[in-house]
Amino acid sequence: MACAPVLVTRRIPEAGLQCLLDAGLEFDVFADDRSPSREEFLRIVPGRSGILALLHDRIDAEALDAAGPQLRCVSNFAVGYNNIDIEEATRRGVLVTNTPDVLTEATADLAWSLIMAAARRICEGDRMVRAGEFHGWEPMMLLGQDLVGKTLGIVGAGRIGSAVARRSRGWEMRVLYTDSSVNESLERDLGASRVDLDTLCSESDVISVHCPLMEETHHLFGADQFGRMKTTAVFVNTARGPIHDEAALAQALRDGVIAAAGLDVFEREPSVDPLLMELDNAVLLPHIGSATRPTRDRMAITAAENLIAALRGERPANLLNPEVIEGRP
Ligand code: GLV
Repeated sequence: MACAPVLVTRRIPEAGLQCLLDAGLEFDVFADDRSPSREEFLRIVPGRSGILALLHDRIDAEALDAAGPQLRCVSNFAVGYNNIDIEEATRRGVLVTNTPDVLTEATADLAWSLIMAAARRICEGDRMVRAGEFHGWEPMMLLGQDLVGKTLGIVGAGRIGSAVARRSRGWEMRVLYTDSSVNESLERDLGASRVDLDTLCSESDVISVHCPLMEETHHLFGADQFGRMKTTAVFVNTARGPIHDEAALAQALRDGVIAAAGLDVFEREPSVDPLLMELDNAVLLPHIGSATRPTRDRMAITAAENLIAALRGERPANLLNPEVIEGRP
C-alpha cells in the first residue's frame, strides 16, 4: 500500500504484524521490547500515516502535531481510549479506533479471579504457605467472605460489565448496576436493577468497576463512596485506575471501612500507592485483564485490521470518531 510508514509503538503479537505485512503496509516497531519514552515517541512519530498505539501512549495535540498532517489513523491496541484526545484527532481528520469485543470474556474472567481472590484471601494464603507459616488447619485462619446469594454491583453495564454480571448466575447473586442507560438484556435475563451509585455502594457485597475513564468518572470512588459500603464489601477495578481515588481506597482498606479490594489497574501506573502495597487485604495485578494468548492475538489482528481499513480509505470496524468520515452534523 502506498503510504508513509506506520509506527507500532511496541512489539505486539505476530498475528497483528502479519496482517500489516499481508496488506503490504510498511511499518516500524519501536526497536526494543519496551515502550518509547515521550521524547523518543515525539522523535519517531513525524511523517507517519498511522500509529498502532498502546494504552499508555498519550496521543494528544502535541503528539498529533508532531506526527504531521499526513497522519490518517490512530489504532489503539486496547478497548479503553482515555489515552487519546479524540476531539483533537477529529479536528485534524484523524480516524481513531479501538479493540472492543475480543477482550470481553478474558477481562470478565479476570474480574472474577479478583473477586474470588479478594473475597477468599487467596494471595494471603499463598504468601503464608510460602513463608513457612502454615502450621496446620486452624478454625480462625484466613476467614473471608461468602459470595453465594450476595449482591453484585456492576458499575458500567457495557460489554465487560454485562459479562461479569452473567457469570454471577453461578453464585445466584442479585445484580445491581449503574449505567447512563438501561441494559434491557441484563434486566430481563438476570433480573438486574439499575440504581444510583449511592444505592449500589450501600447495598452491594461486591462492587466491580467497568465504566470508561472520562472526566465524569475520574475519582468516582473516593472516601465518601467507600464510607457508604458495607464493612464486608469487596471492591474490584479492572477498568482504569483513576476511576478510584487510590489513597482513599488504601485508607479504607487499612481502617477496615471495607473488607478487601482486587485491583488490575492503578491511578498512576506503573506506580502503586505505597500504603496499598503494604496491605494484605488488597490483591494487586499488573494490568493483565486481557492477557490471554488468544485474546491478545485477536486484539493485535483487530488493531491491525482497523489500521489497514483506515489507510485504504475504508471505514474501520471499530471507528470511534465517525464524524471524520461522515462530516460534522
Ligand atoms: C485494557 O486495559 C484495555 O483497555 O484494553
